[in-house]
Amino acid sequence: MPTALVTGVSRGLGIRICHELKAAGYRVLGVGLSVAPQHVPLDDYRVVDLREPVSCELFAGEAVDVLVNNAGVYLDDPRGGYGDLFALSLADLRETFAVNLFGATQLVQRYAPPMLARGSGRVLCVSSGMGRLQDADGASFAYRASKLALNALVLGLARHFERRNADLSAFAFCPGWIRTDMGTRTAPNDPRLAAEDLVRLLKLPAARSNGRFFRGRQELGWDTSGPLVVN
Ligand SMILES: NC(=O)c1ccc[n+]([C@@H]2O[C@H](COP(=O)([O-])OP(=O)(O)OC[C@H]3O[C@@H](n4cnc5c(N)ncnc54)[C@H](OP(=O)(O)O)[C@@H]3O)[C@@H](O)[C@H]2O)c1
Repeated sequence: MPTALVTGVSRGLGIRICHELKAAGYRVLGVGLSVAPQHVPLDDYRVVDLREPVSCELFAGEAVDVLVNNAGVYLDDPRGGYGDLFALSLADLRETFAVNLFGATQLVQRYAPPMLARGSGRVLCVSSGMGRLQDADGASFAYRASKLALNALVLGLARHFERRNADLSAFAFCPGWIRTDMGTRTAPNDPRLAAEDLVRLLKLPAARSNGRFFRGRQELGWDTSGPLVVN
C-alpha cells in the first residue's frame, strides 16, 4: 500500500485530499496545526507548525511515496480589506513565506531524497494561478510571491527528478477557486472535485506530469513571455 503525506489536513481542501487518497488505496499520514483533526481518514497524524523547523524525527521510518504540500495561508486577501502592497506588514510577509514556501521546502528536503534513491515518488505542491507572473494585479503581493516561489521549488525539484530518469514527478496544482475558509462560501467550485482531480494527476506517468502546472486536470502552464506591464 503506497503512503501519502499531506499537510494542512484538518479543513478545506486538505480534508478532501485525505478522503480521496484513502479511497484510492493510500495509507494517509497528515500534519497540521489542529490538535485533533475531526472526520479525516488518517492512519497517523502529527501536529506540525510549518512556520517552525520540521523535526527530522517526523514520521521517521515511513517510506513516503507521495508528498502533498497543501497547507497554505492567504493573509493579504483583499476581500478582508487588506491586500494592498503598501499596507502589507513585514510580519505577514514573513508568515506567508514561512508556511507557503519554507514549510513546503523543508518537507521536500526531508522526503524527496529517499524518493530519488528509490527511483519512484510524487511531490505535488498546491499552488495557485495567482502565482503566475502574468496574473499579478498589484494586490496580494505576499500570497502571489509565495506561490510564485513555490512554483520555482517545483521546477527545481522536477529538474532533479528528470535527471534520475525514473518514476519520479514533481508538479504544481491549482485547485481553482474553491469553497473553503480561504476561498469563502461564495466560491464557485467544490473542493471535493478539486481533490478528485489532484489524486487522478498523481496517477499520470511521470513523463506527463513532472515539471508541469495543472489547474483541475488541465495543464495550466507556467507563464507567457514578453512584457507583462505596458504603460
Ligand atoms: N481556496 C481557494 O480558492 C484556493 C485557490 C487556489 C489555491 N488554494 C490553495 O489550496 C491550499 C488549501 O487551501 P484551502 O482553501 O483548503 O485553505 P484553508 O481552508 O484556509 O486551509 C488551510 C490549511 O492549511 C493549514 N495551515 C495553515 N497554516 C499552517 C501552519 N503554520 N502549519 C501547518 N498547517 C497550516 C491549516 O491547518 P489548520 O486547520 O490545522 O489550521 C489548514 O488545514 C492552499 O495552499 C491554498 O493556497 C486555495
